[in-house]
Amino acid sequence: MLNEGDLYIITAAFRQLPSHMKITLKTADDIKGMRIAGQLAADVLNMIGEYVKPGITTDDLNTLCHNYIVNVQQAIPAPLNYKGFPKSICTSVNQQVCHGIPGSRKLKEGDIVNVDVTVIKDGWHGDTSKMFFVGKPSILAERLTRITQACLYLGIAQVKPGNRLGDIGAAIQALAEKNRFTIVREYCGHGIGQIFHEPPNVVHYGKAGTGELLRPGMTFTIEPMINAGKREVKLLPDKWTVVTKDHSLSAQWEHTILVTETGHEVLTRRAEETGI
Ligand code: MF3
Ligand code: CO
Ligand code: CO
Repeated sequence: MLNEGDLYIITAAFRQLPSHMKITLKTADDIKGMRIAGQLAADVLNMIGEYVKPGITTDDLNTLCHNYIVNVQQAIPAPLNYKGFPKSICTSVNQQVCHGIPGSRKLKEGDIVNVDVTVIKDGWHGDTSKMFFVGKPSILAERLTRITQACLYLGIAQVKPGNRLGDIGAAIQALAEKNRFTIVREYCGHGIGQIFHEPPNVVHYGKAGTGELLRPGMTFTIEPMINAGKREVKLLPDKWTVVTKDHSLSAQWEHTILVTETGHEVLTRRAEETGI
């Protein structure tokens, strides 16, 4: 039987995290840096929205984001050359779950697309993603997208000192499964700071009251990937793009969260998100 520690080692090995890496607690100064990076990442999602229309290619979206991050924000797009990733953002369309590589594919009416942005500013990372509708989505695509966003928000609501990582996963799993959707297990949220992916792994399923205790100063992402069909995924031959095995639709939303003394702060919150 697997216990929580074993699970950590398996997923950490998947991310190739050295086993000596520890959860870092951010100081007041570190948090200032994280806040700035988080807001820059959020600003990129605000900027790109008006361009996500039928006919644009995912590489056009990449170029717009890259130029904005480098020239306007004077920041660094973290994905570019990260473990060999060739582009500056991830774009994952329809049955693509995550890590889609921008390319010559044209978005078309009815597509749903996740744009995932990570910027580095003054050494600190901000990581966030949202779903966009290209024209009018199907009823199912809209429902999947909205429930996945609600799962992210419900996960975030569990973040306060004294709660545990398992409380986040359990809340997300319960809401997704109540709606007869499934949670992707092979990919997870992660600690974040001066390193893009650091401990802890933040899985989006599990048991309340288990796992790492949340402590003020921890910063991590929550980024549920939720499928309309079966939970199994596969990797495309490009070695990056993750798709659903049964070709069902998949959605993802992501924020970078700080654990505060009293609860949490969403470091990548956008102005349109008034309820969190
Ligand atoms: N932004 C993704 C995450 O949420 C990671 C992308 S890594 C890349 O963790 F190499 F695929 F860009
Ligand atoms: Co992330
Ligand atoms: Co991300």
